[in-house]
Amino acid sequence: TAAKPNKGGLEGIVAATTAISLVDGTAGRLIYRGYNIHDLARTCTYEEVVHLLWFGHLPTQTELSALHEKFVAERTLPDFVVQTIRELPTTTEPMDVLRTAVSAWGAVSVSGKPTIEQAIAATARFPLILAAFNRFRQGKEMLESRPELGHAANYLYLLTGELPKEEHVRGLNTYLVLLADHGMNASTFTARIVASTESDIVSSLVAALGALKGPLHGGAPSKVQDMLHEIGSVDKAEAWIREAITHGGRLMGFGHRVYKTTDPRAEELREMARVADPEDFKLSGYVEQKALALLDEMKPGRKLYTNVEYYSAALMKAVGLSGDLFTPTFAVSRCAGWTAHILEQVNNNRLIRPEAEYTGPQSATFVPLTERK
Ligand code: CMC
Repeated sequence: TAAKPNKGGLEGIVAATTAISLVDGTAGRLIYRGYNIHDLARTCTYEEVVHLLWFGHLPTQTELSALHEKFVAERTLPDFVVQTIRELPTTTEPMDVLRTAVSAWGAVSVSGKPTIEQAIAATARFPLILAAFNRFRQGKEMLESRPELGHAANYLYLLTGELPKEEHVRGLNTYLVLLADHGMNASTFTARIVASTESDIVSSLVAALGALKGPLHGGAPSKVQDMLHEIGSVDKAEAWIREAITHGGRLMGFGHRVYKTTDPRAEELREMARVADPEDFKLSGYVEQKALALLDEMKPGRKLYTNVEYYSAALMKAVGLSGDLFTPTFAVSRCAGWTAHILEQVNNNRLIRPEAEYTGPQSATFVPLTERK
């Protein structure tokens, strides 16, 4: 068969070897260290999955308790980081707050070769940063973490000051499990590139946060909500979608570089979104079906399916998160994957340094500044 034309974007290029997760885009399979995502999503806590990603095996009860204790011990922010968060304008995007506060934390005593202790500290602190900012912007004080609560429950508690409902904890926990790692996605690749230069773990994470923020990656879910809001009702869906595709628009929450079939994470989230808010689901479920049919009709052969972001929005809304917390909450989850990849990179490192195909001129004649016209 003829070689496919190179469309750029490193499509199909193997950039690293990894034993952390497999994204099988043809079969629609996602595997974390051997385990199918469907099994993990339905039965595991986020902490169990983090243990799996970092240490390579699902924890025993003793190992899980030990990891919980370590997380609890790291649920604290240095004063100067709290001060940094407090000083930011209340209109700052939470994703920018997270990137800034993580960077501030890295300014002091987070150096050297990345360690598992640093990975634990970072993963413990992402929710604290977001919750602190969310409280400050509401004119409230930040709260102390509750040691008896797991990662998902503690995050919801810190945001609201109320013990979260069981179904909200379960919903957020499943979301965190589903998003924890995903092969060589743009932000993970970014984190690995920075780690490969022997930089520090926080620099890798700050770079990864920057990559995640864009709407083609983790910035999509709030835009899914905007799209559903604009569509407004089922009778307007078809015309709206047709118009958007005709004018070259991207339907947020559809399409994926690797999945050429349904994203297995979207299947899990669709079911949860349907149960969590049946009223909202009437529109989102209908728009999904219409969008799939119209993408097939108007973009034939592109194999565009629902991706993880489409129902992430509905799920996060159902557990009480505001739209601007969707992408940073993705980061709360993905911190585990990023740090697992950073550790994998530094434990068998070679500088990541690809080449570019130069397309500019090669023999321009130099003219000194004073003689240039
Ligand atoms: N809506 C309409 N058309 C689309 C879409 C979409 N969502 N996605 C791809 N296409 C079309 C695209 O216009 C192109 O058509 P043509 O051949 O006529 O030029 C064709 O499909 C191939 O697109 P591409 O840009 O080469 O695909 P890609 O692999 O570079 O892009 C993507 C992948 C995720 C950036 C893209 O599908 C997209 O922009 N989706 C919308 C944003 C989104 O939902 N992002 C979340 C991604 S999943 C989670 C994550 O990675 O964080």
